[in-house]
Amino acid sequence: MKSGITFDDVLLVPKKSSVSSRKTISVSTKLTKNIKLNYPIVSSNMDTVTEAEMAIEMARNGGIGIIHRFNSIEEQVEMVSTVKRAESLVIDNPYRVSLEAKLDEIKFLMKKKKVHSLLVSENGKLQGIITSRDIRFEVNGKSAKDIMTPREKIITGTIDTSIEDAKNILDKYRIEKLPLVDSENRIMGLITAKDILNSINRPNASLDKKGKLLVGAAIGVKDYLERTKALVDAGVDVIVIDIAHGHSDLAINTLQTIKKNFKVDIIAGNVATGEGVKDLIEAGADAIKVGVGPGSICITRIVTGAGIPQLTAVLECSSIAKKYDVPVIADGGIRTSGDLTKALAAGASTVMLGSVLAGTDESPGEILIKDGRRAKIIRGMAGYGANMSKRERENMRSDVFDIVPEGVEGIVPYRGSVKDILKQLIGGLQSGISYCGGHSILGLQQNAEFIRISGAGKKESGSHDIGRF
Ligand code: XMP
Repeated sequence: MKSGITFDDVLLVPKKSSVSSRKTISVSTKLTKNIKLNYPIVSSNMDTVTEAEMAIEMARNGGIGIIHRFNSIEEQVEMVSTVKRAESLVIDNPYRVSLEAKLDEIKFLMKKKKVHSLLVSENGKLQGIITSRDIRFEVNGKSAKDIMTPREKIITGTIDTSIEDAKNILDKYRIEKLPLVDSENRIMGLITAKDILNSINRPNASLDKKGKLLVGAAIGVKDYLERTKALVDAGVDVIVIDIAHGHSDLAINTLQTIKKNFKVDIIAGNVATGEGVKDLIEAGADAIKVGVGPGSICITRIVTGAGIPQLTAVLECSSIAKKYDVPVIADGGIRTSGDLTKALAAGASTVMLGSVLAGTDESPGEILIKDGRRAKIIRGMAGYGANMSKRERENMRSDVFDIVPEGVEGIVPYRGSVKDILKQLIGGLQSGISYCGGHSILGLQQNAEFIRISGAGKKESGSHDIGRF
């Protein structure tokens, strides 16, 4: 009988290091065969973890978010579009309103689309611009034409305006937005000062060829053809086939059909064995998601008796995936930057995080107070809650569901912003790489030597024998 181990069973043996500052250590990696990331971190496709806001913040800070699938196709597509439009050096199709649009409508659109300006147009031609500053003190009843800065006062560029020229124009006229028009005043795009500044201030952001944030989305096996088509049309960068037991005919057929019909990178999973990895790669997967039962909210191993401790799963799966040069995502069970370092050292190219990110400002859901402390809800996607519609959840009608749950609901402490958490995780990872004598994730993997530890060794590893505030 084989034996299996996980993060707390091991430590990495320290090696001689030539690193003078951990900041010089590169943590860039591959998410899939064709997608590179500056940070090896992916937010989980869970409905209490990743919707548009999380995906935007993850991509701005070097990772990527995978929008969950527990929604209608329209809702998921809307979230993907929100991420794709959140940043772009040139916005191809800026949001616009008509001259007659009422203030309520303008405010609603700005809030829903998370933008601070709208162009006013008639028959595709530029008539004016409204920014959030223009409507701060306006009262209801007014329309776009009463509030907007009119066309004759707007400085514009053309489709040929370079980013460098746009920067100079924005600076010269002290303006925030530069609409692009053609010779007949038709709207051709928009360049904003904020997007240019973002590209300078966020050198690690995960961007596509047009400077838009990268985003992924999950699909299941039910409406997958229709859903994938809608997501691809919305510009999604990567699709995750989200199946708890990914080493199955169902997963393989889904993967092959999608690969045949669409040109988009596919992450397939979840699996926990070398054979699972081999079968999914041979069916066309561009990355493999590894993890059966390690997640904070998972009870798969309790309910079914099946699973593999996560470090063993990552070691075995990565060794097979490496032969095909296909990246592995270690999904579930990661609590600290030490776990992150161990997962990458074991061969994963990225990790997927659920509970670590569920308590942030950017995760869906409200902040609760529990025993005087702030907290947020996390919900297993194979549990009752996630499988009920919103209405059923609100009415607590779990009786309508004929499922055997493999996930639970719980709370996680409120943890502030995603950006700060990523900073801590990446800082810890860079130090971890340095302890292993490496300068990059590849160096970490080449040098990594795990040592098994005892219960006493584990106890010694955390803070101990001191009082806690
Ligand atoms: P962490 O530990 O980061 O794990 O919170 C997140 C991962 O857990 C998986 N997941 C589930 N697994 N039942 C399961 O067995 C569930 O209900 C469930 N919901 C999420 C998923 O892979 C996620 O990324």
